Amino acid sequence: MKKLLVTGGAGFIGGNFVQYMTGKYPHYHIYNLDLLTYAGDLTKHQKIESNENYSFVHIDIADREAVNELFEQVNFDYVVHFAAESHVDRSITDPEIFIRTNVLGTQVLLDAAKGANIKKFVHVSTDEVYGELDFDPASFFTEETPLQPNSPYSASKASSDLLVRAYYETYGLPVNITRCSNNYGPYHFPEKLIPLTISRVLNDQKVPVYGDGKNVRDWLHVLDHCSAIDLVMHSGEIGGVYNIGGHNERTNLQVVRTIIEALGKSEDLIEFVEDRLGHDKRYAIDPSKIERLGWRPVYDFETGIAQTVDWFLENKEWWEQIISGEYQQYFDRQYARK
Ligand code: NAD
Ligand code: DAU
Repeated sequence: MKKLLVTGGAGFIGGNFVQYMTGKYPHYHIYNLDLLTYAGDLTKHQKIESNENYSFVHIDIADREAVNELFEQVNFDYVVHFAAESHVDRSITDPEIFIRTNVLGTQVLLDAAKGANIKKFVHVSTDEVYGELDFDPASFFTEETPLQPNSPYSASKASSDLLVRAYYETYGLPVNITRCSNNYGPYHFPEKLIPLTISRVLNDQKVPVYGDGKNVRDWLHVLDHCSAIDLVMHSGEIGGVYNIGGHNERTNLQVVRTIIEALGKSEDLIEFVEDRLGHDKRYAIDPSKIERLGWRPVYDFETGIAQTVDWFLENKEWWEQIISGEYQQYFDRQYARK
């Protein structure tokens, strides 16, 4: 039985990845390592929690002793590293935890993995490490685009990417780095644009759109991201970087309008608010390299967003519980400034 360590498996993408891998590879034992910060919850894994081939490990990736102990107990074949502080707005007001988790935490994992004879360490990074593009539709991020992160979040992710690269070059650790565009889908935490819009529109609350709403993001369904990581983990060239994206560019305003229309509500709910500091104009991925490996996305944006809206309608309990807790204080703090 192959042993797969997934860090951050209680979060949005890591959680979907755990479900995806459990379904596809019943002969893999999946270890889900997560600190359960505000962004992590295990209710999404209720159906598999008693499976013999699933284990939850409650530790902090920056806790060297605990991480080393885990690697002494289990001989992992693969590590897929999602655990991170992931929200740009939070990194602007409180950057320190981003450095601790995203940079130090990654280095602790790399140290543990380098003595452990693993087959592959996949570091899940982001297109934001490349900085921003202008609005020329012919310009894209490729794997050769220089790293020019603009937010504390993307700077912390770029730093972790460089550490991963260094552990490959220096110690020969078999790594891949993936850099994906914006994800959406089930269990997306409602601080991010799409789930925030869905949850607020459903409650007839105003939707805060930063600046003029013309910033562009390149959206990918989370399950398409999962299939790409699966492919890279098994077939990616060791040491390689892979960009992941499905050519689904939309302005923020287009995204918000699509959701409002899908829910049959009024565009009067849109409220333009002060812009995000250092707000990147546009992201767009050139996915040719991972396409050459055989990957194709399954979801087009319209189908994916319609299914996601349905999922939020059918799973109100999940997000209503989140937005009624400490989230409300976060929201009031974050948007009072705007
Ligand atoms: P998320 O915020 O939903 O989940 C992060 C998870 O990491 C949570 O379960 C949290 O409890 C856990 N975590 C945080 N700090 C930890 C620590 N110190 N030790 C152990 N666990 C810890 O994030 P997400 O949106 O699912 O993103 C996952 C990864 O994918 C991140 O590395 C992010 O940079 C990357 N990424 C995200 C997107 C996106 O659109 N969301 C796109 C590209 C790449
Ligand atoms: O590109 C990949 C990245 O996508 C990931 O690395 C990050 O972890 C993930 O959070 C996401 O970053 P963004 O900053 O692009 O996502 P967010 O949902 O926060 O914002 C999307 C766009 O919507 C961005 O241009 C800012 C805007 N926005 C966001 C919020 C929360 C608004 O206009 N209003 C809002 O309230």
